Amino acid sequence: MTASQTGRTGGADQGPSGGVLIVDFGAQYCQLIARRVRELGVYSRITVPERAMFTFAAMRPQAVILSGGPRSVYEHDAPKLDRAILEQGVPVLGICYGLQWMAQNLGGEVTPAQSGAEYGRTELQVVDGRGFLQGVRDGGIVWMSHGDKVSKLPQGFEVLGKSEPCPFAVVADMKRKFIGLQFHPEVAHTVDGQQMLNNFVLSVAKCSTDWDPGHIVDRKVQAVRELVGETGEVVLGLSGGVDSSVAAAIVHKAIGSRLHCVFVDNGLLRQGERDGVEELFGRDWHMDLKVVDASDRFLGELQGVTDPEQKRKIIGKVFVDVFKHEAKSYRNAKFLGQGTLYPDVIESVAAHGGATSTIKSHHNVGGLPKDLDMQLVEPLRDLFKDEVRAIGRQMGLPSSLVDRQPFPGPGLAVRCLGEITRDRLRALREADAIVRFEVESKGLHKNLWQYFAVHLPVKSVGVKGDARVYEEVCVLRMVSSVDAMTADWELLPVDVLRRLSTRILNEVKGFSRVCLDISSKPPATIEWE
Ligand code: XMP
Repeated sequence: MTASQTGRTGGADQGPSGGVLIVDFGAQYCQLIARRVRELGVYSRITVPERAMFTFAAMRPQAVILSGGPRSVYEHDAPKLDRAILEQGVPVLGICYGLQWMAQNLGGEVTPAQSGAEYGRTELQVVDGRGFLQGVRDGGIVWMSHGDKVSKLPQGFEVLGKSEPCPFAVVADMKRKFIGLQFHPEVAHTVDGQQMLNNFVLSVAKCSTDWDPGHIVDRKVQAVRELVGETGEVVLGLSGGVDSSVAAAIVHKAIGSRLHCVFVDNGLLRQGERDGVEELFGRDWHMDLKVVDASDRFLGELQGVTDPEQKRKIIGKVFVDVFKHEAKSYRNAKFLGQGTLYPDVIESVAAHGGATSTIKSHHNVGGLPKDLDMQLVEPLRDLFKDEVRAIGRQMGLPSSLVDRQPFPGPGLAVRCLGEITRDRLRALREADAIVRFEVESKGLHKNLWQYFAVHLPVKSVGVKGDARVYEEVCVLRMVSSVDAMTADWELLPVDVLRRLSTRILNEVKGFSRVCLDISSKPPATIEWE
């Protein structure tokens, strides 16, 4: 489906119209709501309460969701939302704080929960299983987390569901299509939560299901063309990661050779990475790609540095210097392409910071735009990572790139503990290539978030051939995760571990011992530095 078929409009910076507007009252799970709605094929966008009416006017949503939040509607500095949002004739779903705000503004009453705050699992008793609660199980677990509760319903509201501590767990005024939940449907603990969101978005609000990230490439391409114009040129830092690669593919489709990609080899890349980027984007896609070998400069400045934070700072600073220098050499380029994603730009309420909104800035090429005085081209700024992957697939990027495991910006530096030398990087790179090959060739990577090798600056005695060796330790790190916020260590089949150990010890000079990291996050982090 193309832009004209969906009837949607919007430049690189504006979202499409229609869909669901989510007002963020500071909920921990706001992005989760937005993703769940998009998974239904319905566009969703998050905004702060102060900008809600402005965004509403621009977006013309088919439904509104008011999120939960950590505040009480009675606090004098509680997030302010224009009550006109209830007079727009669109269905509104209030979750927790969102329900309390709705009740307060429609003539109901909100009081502190009698037993203090109510947290955790409780069973939902379905009072009316038609409409909004269609398909929702009586006695199913729902997840509560609130300090206040609605004590008197506004006129026109009825109870659809209740729970032991909460007589108004699900309430609705179906004439106006206002629905309120005192629990969180978006969290996994609420068993039929997705069913409730489905019912609201599809049955109650009847939103159009025309959001398909794989099918919006034409719209993205058109938006870039409009922004850049007939003659404009774009410089884009290509890292070989999913975001910058998909952004480059879109901009390239829009303006062809007026896109100039710069790939900085910092000497901290994995085996085959630079060749892979040159082959795919330079040779196969015929992009104007400049590969800058800055490894001497990076490794020179890192010499003797062992402190993890200092390493990161040096790498960040040198990258900005090198990239800025290169970008300036494209004299006609007035635009800077970036693979910024939606989670980086969502206007979110700081979780406990009241109504002050924090707009997260672009932290993939931090500091660059202002210095360079270039206009940003960010074709992915209204998309989540999964959606970017769908677009990448649609555009023909290989699965090895689109579905690849995350690789940190500072590269192998954060896995090469202690001093970074070319020789220690060589050993790490070889071990990492063995890990990737063995895991991927058996298809084990499909259940892993990341799988890599780490180089420890610890020496231990070994015997290789008949000779005594005194070499360092290679650690294997394999984790599963959903979003990298938490992670579990994973145990590979013993024969695979045995093969990894044998190959690394036999083939890689510099390691006399292989160890397995069995630490979850928290308290450990995924990377070692
Ligand atoms: P940690 O080690 O904090 O990592 O558990 C969480 C996720 O983030 C990745 N990571 C980074 N990604 N720049 C990045 O782009 C960085 O500086 C960076 N540090 C960590 C890490 O690989 C994991 O997926």
